[in-house]
Parts: sequence; C-alpha cells; structure tokens
Amino acid sequence: MSPRPAPPVPPGPSVVSPHDAVPATFLAALRATGVLRTAAVVRAFATVPRHRCVTGFFTGLGKQGGGSYVEVPQQDAVPPGLLEAVYADHPLITHVSPDGRPTSSSSTPSLMARMLEAMCPEPGMNVLEIGAGTGYNAALLSILTAPHGTVTSVDTQPEVVAGALAALRRLDLDRPGISVRLADGWAGHPAETPYDRVIATVGVAGVSPRWVDQLAPNGLVVVPVRHGGAHPVLAVNRAPDGELMGRGVVWTDFIRAEGKLADAPWPLSWPDPHALTSEGWHTGIIPELDDDGYRDLWFSLACLDSRVVRTSYDPAIGCGLADPQLGLLRLGRDAVHRIGDQRLVDELRRRLDRWEDLGRPGPADWSCQLTAAGSVLVPSQWRCVR
Ligand SMILES: C[S@@+](CC[C@H](N)C(=O)[O-])C[C@H]1O[C@@H](n2cnc3c(N)ncnc32)[C@H](O)[C@@H]1O
Repeated sequence: MSPRPAPPVPPGPSVVSPHDAVPATFLAALRATGVLRTAAVVRAFATVPRHRCVTGFFTGLGKQGGGSYVEVPQQDAVPPGLLEAVYADHPLITHVSPDGRPTSSSSTPSLMARMLEAMCPEPGMNVLEIGAGTGYNAALLSILTAPHGTVTSVDTQPEVVAGALAALRRLDLDRPGISVRLADGWAGHPAETPYDRVIATVGVAGVSPRWVDQLAPNGLVVVPVRHGGAHPVLAVNRAPDGELMGRGVVWTDFIRAEGKLADAPWPLSWPDPHALTSEGWHTGIIPELDDDGYRDLWFSLACLDSRVVRTSYDPAIGCGLADPQLGLLRLGRDAVHRIGDQRLVDELRRRLDRWEDLGRPGPADWSCQLTAAGSVLVPSQWRCVR
C-alpha cells in the first residue's frame, strides 16, 4: 500500500508551553507511514507531547525479564537522545509484573493513529477508553472530542490510573468531562452512557456485552480481539438489521487484558509433541510476500481456519497451523516447517488457494458476526466482503 499524503496540520489551540512541543521529526515520520487520514488526528498528535505522558519505560526486556528502566524527566527538558527514543514508532513498556511480563505500555504511535482514524472521532462525542495506560491516548481523545466531548478511561492498575491522571494534569487536559477511573473495563462505565465510541487499547478475547449495551444507536467499538493467536483490531457496530458486525482494521497484537475480558474458551488446541514423529520442510508453498502481504495472509488464514496460531512473536514469521491430531506447521517466509502429518500441508495448500482465489484479502476485507462465548462476544462466521 503506498502511503497517502497526510492532511496539513490546521491551526488549533496549543495546550503545552513551547519547550514541550512535539518534535517535528516525529510528526514527519508519522505522516510518512501513511496512516494519518484526517486533519483532526494530525492536530491531536501535533498537540499532545508523548514525553509528558510517558514518565519512564523499560528497555532491553527479555523473555526472562531483565532490562532496565529509563526515567523521562518531567521537570526539565528531555535530553535529545532520550527524546528520540520516546518518539520512536515503537511501544514503550511502562509496567511489568514481578515475573517480567509487560502489563502496561504506551502503544506504537502509528497503530494508535490507525485506531483513532478507524473510530472517526468528532467534537462533542462521548468516548469510553478501556486501558488508560500512560494517558497519552486519553489526551489525544480529549483534543479530538473538544470542546464539549467526554472521555472516560478505565484501567485495572491503581498506579497506572494515578500516572494517567497526573499526565492529564501536567498537560492541563484534566478539564471537566475527562476522567480516568480504576475499574475492570469489562463492565464498561454505566455512569456516562450512551457512548458514541468505545476504544479498547488492550487485547481482549472478545467484546464485552456491556459495551454493546452502553453504545449509542450509531456507536462504534474499536477493539483488538483475539484472532489467529494475536489481537488484530476490529471495528464493531450494529448493522441496520440489529446484528452485531465486526470488520477487520489492522493486523497487530496487544498486551492481554486481565479478568473477564480474557474469559472466552480458548479455541485452539496444540498437538501433543510426543505424538509427533515425522518432520519436514516444504518450499514453494508460500508465495513471495512483503510484510503487509504476510500479515494479510495470516489474518485471512485465521478467518478460513480456526486452527491458526502464533508460533513466534516475530510478526514476519509467526503464523502457524496447529491441529491436535495432525501436528503443527510454522509458516516461514521461504518454507513451511512441518512437525507432524503431511496431510496438514495439503490442508494449508487448499487454504492458500482460497486466499488467492479471493484476491489476497487483508483485514479490512473481512467481516464477522459476534457470538457469545464465556463472558464476551467473539468473532465468528468470517465472510470476505472484498
Ligand atoms: C497498552 S496499555 C494502554 C495504553 C494507553 N491507552 C496509552 O495511551 O498509554 C493496556 C492497559 O490496559 C490495562 N488493562 C488490562 N486489563 C484491563 C481491564 N480488564 N480493564 C481495563 N484495563 C485493563 C492495563 O493495566 C494497561 O494499562
């Protein structure tokens, strides 16, 4: 996809002092990704400094934890090298569990931009955010819904809530109507309903039925939902016939939600490694694809086959197909690694042929229905709508 030119930054209110300005290089890099579509979202990113929301982050975290915590000074100017790190197009891990697992972060800015564009925010809207994190997204939402909009952001971690509130205060964005609350996002926030938009910035097993109850008639939920072993973003709304429909937005992954938002039966069963005796490599199966093409394939395979899993955290080689009886396939870029029965390779070939026949669809070309499973509503009956 060739990046489309971003709209120019329209004049608007500046909420920060000049030395807290958002670096021009960050805005230029964000524009170059091609995800910015509206002047309003451009202006929000130009107005809110990420370095005043992120007070520190971990670097060098491995699977066993480790790494170090870098503080971002809030009283003084941030040194240029650190500023560059804060404004890189990467997630910044801000909190980890005692065993080193990330529990809160500031998401990748271009992904945040994509989600904000997908939710079509407008001044005056009433928005619920699930996952306050650093407060950066809540701050962007407060600009996007100003002057009379309402933003309620909820998070399950008390210190995260305190940090997000402090960030909004530092930015002078804690105006009436903008709030951060300690709560499990599964319940939504009944006090401020109905919501024009619900945006979740944490990976969930499915959509909470409470969000649907609390949604305004033409409302929209933008949410990363478990699919193919990751959490790509879906846009969910009510079709004219009242049916709840989801549509893919972008392939990505998120920190997994706590509590009922993670409570849906796990649809994937991994094979028993001891039962797998045969192994092989198969070339010439996966077509030559760039990164976007591989992600389109991964999302689509998961629509066509509920056995699609993630076999690696590297999004360029992580797609897999796992069958409790037949075994496991790992889809590399040049070859497929099989651990188990050859029949699984034949099944993969059929799915790949189908993807080609459909014209290589990506996330935005798929729609689904949402059906109850456990405490949430999960995607089902995927249909290519290309
Ligand atoms: C990726 S961070 C959110 C990033 C944030 N929007 C920002 O702009 O920095 C995900 C957050 O979701 C929170 N979370 C996890 N489970 C939750 C739940 N059930 N309800 C609400 N928040 C939850 C985590 O504590 C974490 O702070």
